[in-house]
Amino acid sequence: MSQSYDVVIREASVFDGSGAPPITADVAIDGDRIAAVGAVGGRARETLDGRGLALSPGFIDVHTHDDFAAVLYPQMDFKLRGGVTTCVVGNCGMGAAPFAEASAMARAFHPRALLPEWRGYSGYFAHLDRAPAAVNIGVLIGHGTARMAAMGGEARAPDAKEMARMKSIVAEGLEAGALGMSSGLIYDPGRFADTDELVELATLMRGTGGLYATHMRDESTGLLESVREAIDIGERAGVPVQISHHKASGRSAWGLVRESLQLIERAQARGLDVHADQYPYTAGSTVLSAVFRDGKFGGGIGMLRPEDVVIASTAAHPEWEGKSMVALAAEIDCEPAAAAARILAEDADATVVLHVMNEDDVRTVMRHPSTMIGSDGIPTLEGKPHPRLYGTFARVLGHYARDLGLFPLAEAVYRMTGFPAAKFGLEGRGVVKPGAYADLVLFDPKRIIDRGTYEDPHRHPDGIDAVFVNGVMSVRNAQPANARAGRALRRVAQRN
Ligand code: ZN
Ligand code: CU
Repeated sequence: MSQSYDVVIREASVFDGSGAPPITADVAIDGDRIAAVGAVGGRARETLDGRGLALSPGFIDVHTHDDFAAVLYPQMDFKLRGGVTTCVVGNCGMGAAPFAEASAMARAFHPRALLPEWRGYSGYFAHLDRAPAAVNIGVLIGHGTARMAAMGGEARAPDAKEMARMKSIVAEGLEAGALGMSSGLIYDPGRFADTDELVELATLMRGTGGLYATHMRDESTGLLESVREAIDIGERAGVPVQISHHKASGRSAWGLVRESLQLIERAQARGLDVHADQYPYTAGSTVLSAVFRDGKFGGGIGMLRPEDVVIASTAAHPEWEGKSMVALAAEIDCEPAAAAARILAEDADATVVLHVMNEDDVRTVMRHPSTMIGSDGIPTLEGKPHPRLYGTFARVLGHYARDLGLFPLAEAVYRMTGFPAAKFGLEGRGVVKPGAYADLVLFDPKRIIDRGTYEDPHRHPDGIDAVFVNGVMSVRNAQPANARAGRALRRVAQRN
């Protein structure tokens, strides 16, 4: 009796996610798994012609802030149509629990949204189990959220009781299946934590396979100090480290990435598990309140020129979105600092795009073997969010790998599939081989490209024809298929 499959994709150029060069093969899907790779006989309910196309594992976005978007906009179009099949949420210290503090932070990205309430990380996982998103969700515990719950916005070290409360939040998250803990050391209240506090909390993850991901204290002229601190925390706590959005921010720091990469190399040479992620743009994005403090632009991201700060979203004045602080100041006839102060007075949650990086640095970091890809997209569907929300993966594949030749396409694919899956402990994902989950992207390597710009960011990439999530075709003919086949991914294996 001949085999029968749900789907067979015929004669695509298959990138297996390991970085190996592609091979022409058929890939068969049965249920939620890849059933066969090679010359596949038998019958299929559906056959796709893969000739001239690339088939790779679904992209894993290791750096997202989609904790609440996954609940509010479970179709997750902005990720799915860019080939993303898994998002790791809870980055930069901002986690999904405890609910009161998490939902207060969520308001910055989703001002008018009404969230259903959940209890703890286990409640968040349970919500995703009941009401799945279109992509898989891996979860990081937010240190900032835990600190806020334990001790509010206090700018001091925790006392014993507060530390115990933070530990119980981290422990609950780990128990529920979180992949690790993140910190955001430029934000309130994460920035009030010293190294020892972070070591003590990260130590809870020793032996569990959980990792420590960090938005470091200073990505500008203090970059090297910050990388040392991140590595130190991992080493003392005995846990893997993930440096978030590796960059040198602000003109006075440009070029420092060459040394920060050496720090990572040296740590790796000593046997430490240290890597980083990056988004492929020369602009960053965050909340205005983090980069305008005490009447001045700057703060953890270095010297910041008001002309480089562009309003991304502000619910109070949508007509200001897309304007730089200098342009807005001219329009309302005041100094740029006064304009920033006025925005914050009316909308404490306004977000901005920051033109603070150097293209050579972006390429230096991207080429380095320690770097995987993460969008850091801010899922405000109103306003003008940074285009990385939609375009990150297509841009690395189309612009940096194909057009600029920074590395072979197979390596670009590896940095968004097999590599992050191994680092974050996502078993059975990030690879194309029999038995693995059928998270797959079928794309045209000649056409794939990001299309969003800073002026017009809400655009899906070109060249992505089909996306499978757990075996379900969730993008078909480049259009969403209204599937919600994602799963909440719980940490499984212990690594050592
Ligand atoms: Zn961050
Ligand atoms: Cu982030």
